[in-house]
Amino acid sequence: MERYLIRGGRQLKGTVRIGGAKNSILPVLAAVLLNRSSDEVVLHDVPRIRDVYLMVEILRSLGARVSWQDGGSLVVNSRDMSSYSIDDTLMRQMRSSIFLMGVLLGRLGQVRISYPGGCAIGQRAIDLHLKGLSALGAHIREQREQGYIYANCRHLTGCDIMLDYPSVGATENILMAAVFARGVTVISNAAKEPEIVDLQNILNAMGARIRGAGTDQIRIEGVQQLHGTEFTVIPDRIVAGTFMMCVAAARGDVWLENVIPAHLEAVTSKLRETGAEIREDSGRLHIRCRERPRAVDTVRTLPYPGFPTDLQAPMMAVLAGAEGTSIIIENVFEARFMHAAELNRMNAQIITDGRTAVVRGVPRLTGAVVTASDLRAGAALVVAALGAEGETTVEGLHHIERGYENLDADLLKLGASIEKIGGQDPPA
Ligand code: UD1
Repeated sequence: MERYLIRGGRQLKGTVRIGGAKNSILPVLAAVLLNRSSDEVVLHDVPRIRDVYLMVEILRSLGARVSWQDGGSLVVNSRDMSSYSIDDTLMRQMRSSIFLMGVLLGRLGQVRISYPGGCAIGQRAIDLHLKGLSALGAHIREQREQGYIYANCRHLTGCDIMLDYPSVGATENILMAAVFARGVTVISNAAKEPEIVDLQNILNAMGARIRGAGTDQIRIEGVQQLHGTEFTVIPDRIVAGTFMMCVAAARGDVWLENVIPAHLEAVTSKLRETGAEIREDSGRLHIRCRERPRAVDTVRTLPYPGFPTDLQAPMMAVLAGAEGTSIIIENVFEARFMHAAELNRMNAQIITDGRTAVVRGVPRLTGAVVTASDLRAGAALVVAALGAEGETTVEGLHHIERGYENLDADLLKLGASIEKIGGQDPPA
């Protein structure tokens, strides 16, 4: 099994470039399938991470031609896409492929997808996706016993859809389905994440007519055709935030390049409360941490622009070694504290109850053998290990590699003592 060996206590110094956002490229890769023309879509700054490899496999299994170019670009030709059924094994490995439902309905008029079960961080229901798609006119048949969902439509028709909760995936799914729907679709209480703005931008560059992404109301005017384009995905704000947490835990002085500071405001603000000095400079962000972090008043995860749930675990790792006691409330997912028990193996003092965690900071975390239970929990263990005394072994790297490209190499360049050892992990 692959694992990281991390010797903590080394300050981080230098510059790291942040790559394209996982949560942007995944829906974008789904969206390009809406292009029936023979033009290609060329995507730049695509992170080479497991989730992207899986999505590329899904696209190929549906009949699209996808090829990598040097320097992290992908070329997609989806003219001959013909399959409406997503392979069960691939679907099970990546739950977010659920947003292919809207795309396949919009393009082919039918879709068969295996039912996504629960996962490490909660149930991850899809009721809002299904409600939205059926409001557009899809007939949905849930075959729970057989474990799949089949949906079809003669055509989709635009309508007003009010989401009960601003779900990121449901907003994206409905938005993509509405691109070819007849008439106008308005999504209210839509998610406002920057990745949704990115999705709007690429679709508009392909000929769609969408406006309002980034606000809570998105208006999609149906079109009949899309065409190729060239597009660069936004930088990954969660990866950028993770590096900021690494510096906060280990101390140091680091420049992050290729970031959009506005996407990180909630994170920057909380890290400043811990004592981090953070400066923004056109597309770059400088973070310097000289002392042990201070505890913070409550960290509440919320939909964007609130504090992102994806950085809750790394933030907990920082606060575990902070001076004083912090409270964390996880409002987005119902079971996202699996990392607390692993951090406690490193001498942290964290108690969780439901959606609340009380983190009593200790002067120094200590190295241990710990296991990543999901992607961001894995990132949290790396953050904790960098600031801990002694050696930490982090197992379960296949989770971390779902969303971080070369995390070990980047940290090594910043002066961390980190080594990847052992054989290849099985697929996640
Ligand atoms: C996306 C991100 C993920 C991030 C999350 C919240 C991608 C690929 N993933 O996931 O990294 O952690 O946003 O920022 O972009 N819910 C329902 N019914 C639904 C849909 C969602 O109850 O139909 C609930 C979920 O169970 C969860 C909450 O809404 O508790 C948020 O989920 P959602 O915003 O949909 O997250 P994802 O799109 O799955």
